[in-house]
Amino acid sequence: MSINIKNSHIYRSIINFLNAITIAQETMPSETNNTCPVSGASSTPTNGAAPTCPFANANLSQPNTSQNATPSDPNLAVPEPYRSTPLTESQKALIKASIPALESHGLAITKLFYTNMLIAHPELRNIFNASNQAHFQQPRALANAVLAYAQHIDDPSPLMPTVELIVSKHVSLGVQADYYAVVGEWLIKAIAEVLGEAVTPELGEAWMAAYWKLAQIFIGLEASIYEKQKSEGWEGWQDFRVVKKVKESEEITSFYLEPVESRLKPLVGFKPGQFISIQVDVPEMGHRQARQYSLSDSSNPDYLRVSIKKETGNGASAPGVVSSLMHETKKEGDIIRVSRPVGVFFLDEAKIALDAPLVLISGGVGLTPLTAMLNHSAAQNTTRPISWVHGARSTAARAFKQHVEDVAKLHENVQVILFTANVAKEEVEGVENHIQGHINLDLVDKETKLFLSNKKAEYYVCGPMMFMLTMEKALQGQGVDSSRIHMEKFGTGGIAPVEQESPKSVL
Ligand SMILES: Cc1cc2nc3c(=O)[nH]c(=O)nc-3n(C[C@H](O)[C@H](O)[C@H](O)COP(=O)(O)OP(=O)(O)OC[C@H]3O[C@@H](n4cnc5c(N)ncnc54)[C@H](O)[C@@H]3O)c2cc1C
Ligand code: HEM
Repeated sequence: MSINIKNSHIYRSIINFLNAITIAQETMPSETNNTCPVSGASSTPTNGAAPTCPFANANLSQPNTSQNATPSDPNLAVPEPYRSTPLTESQKALIKASIPALESHGLAITKLFYTNMLIAHPELRNIFNASNQAHFQQPRALANAVLAYAQHIDDPSPLMPTVELIVSKHVSLGVQADYYAVVGEWLIKAIAEVLGEAVTPELGEAWMAAYWKLAQIFIGLEASIYEKQKSEGWEGWQDFRVVKKVKESEEITSFYLEPVESRLKPLVGFKPGQFISIQVDVPEMGHRQARQYSLSDSSNPDYLRVSIKKETGNGASAPGVVSSLMHETKKEGDIIRVSRPVGVFFLDEAKIALDAPLVLISGGVGLTPLTAMLNHSAAQNTTRPISWVHGARSTAARAFKQHVEDVAKLHENVQVILFTANVAKEEVEGVENHIQGHINLDLVDKETKLFLSNKKAEYYVCGPMMFMLTMEKALQGQGVDSSRIHMEKFGTGGIAPVEQESPKSVL
């Protein structure tokens, strides 16, 4: 729909919104400091180390918000009246009435939003995943989140697990409270542009109020995590040195990372299953790119280990940006930026009975967070039964085979079941692999290995999306309650079927 936006009430709504943002910025402390606007880290450490601000070397314009220090009370990032006024019943009704429009135009809105915001704020390209933009995964994730929020506007509490997942991603990338005004500005502009005259002043105002209510939840949760991280001595991006690079399979290589600054040692602990973000310069793009990697070894005072699969791409898709760069150019001694371990997918020992069996099911490189869980359990000498079920495309592609078998030799509570999709002629069944083909839980003993009738058993699943959905369905079909199935997606947008992914791609 083509409209003259300056003559419309939408334009007035946007002006109101921008005024609200200006007020929000004016209520923030006005002194400038050397804090990075996105990571919150100090741009110029006093000890002469490399600057930790992701924009420090990026040669990009600073955001409008760079004038503002992150307020000591993060709530101040939310402008009045939205900060202290709840949504009215009529605003909620308007939001609900706009659900059909969001269903039809949500993706168009979020695509436009990202395009325009990243043009206006090129510094944000350092944290947004360019590949997720190119294949629309991130616009799709945001559109789904906005739609789900509209659908739960009366009571957003069922969305809390999703909110916590997004918060982990935001914190891992150093998203700061100031940026909610930027996102709000461009999101509301995109809604106005795509929906045109359908956005009445009342609807525009309802969406602004609703946006800030959601933003307030994110800002509060993120601030409390940053506060805790700060008190523990590691917040924001930090320089880590690659001290060891080990090839684990034909496609997966481990990187052992130690902090450059000695004050970060001993490293703060993390929970097995959590991930870090890694940020590297991508010269061809002229900015940095960040990606998440699960920690593949248990928490220890000296190093973090990630194990990265090289995404080679295929005829239709380009090689992966960061995994290729890590494999091809990062050598022992090189320095990369790393953020604090976070994440909601972890072995929650506080909630699991000591004798509860653990079933760790993974496909391909999805074994990494589960390796941390296995190593952690082995280091603790836990006696609970543990089943390691892994599927690989081929034996050559499988990482950590020897390691997992060594753990099982030392710990009689650990059993190993290996599926191999493409078996080489010379491989001996029972040695290189146990079961030929893609993972099929019907072929694994239900009682002695999957513990299906033990209502305490917990199932941790990680791998490609179709793989996880297949495993989830199989477990649920055998009576396992969803609350005992935990899944981690190596991508953006939560656990849901992805149209492009074919069932073939389960490994
Ligand atoms: C919580 C979490 C934990 C993770 N843990 C691990 C881990 O332990 N090990 C690991 O290896 N990975 C892990 N990942 C995945 C990792 O973050 C990266 O997504 C992965 O390494 C690929 O990044 P990349 O930059 O190499 O590829 P990207 O450049 O991000 O590309 C990803 C895919 O998209 C395709 N693509 C790129 N551009 C386009 C385009 N224009 N159109 C269509 N397709 C395109 C590429 O071919 C590639 O296959 C994890 C992800 C998350 C969210
Ligand atoms: C209320 C406002 C916001 C909502 C609803 C929202 C929603 C989301 C969602 C759904 C994801 C995908 C999470 C996942 O599945 O991994 C995400 C990721 C992300 N968000 Fe937000 N977000 C908001 C605000 C912000 C702000 C203010 C910033 C800072 C500029 C930001 C930066 C990011 C980044 C960098 C990612 C990762 C993108 C990627 O890896 O492709 N978000 N957000």
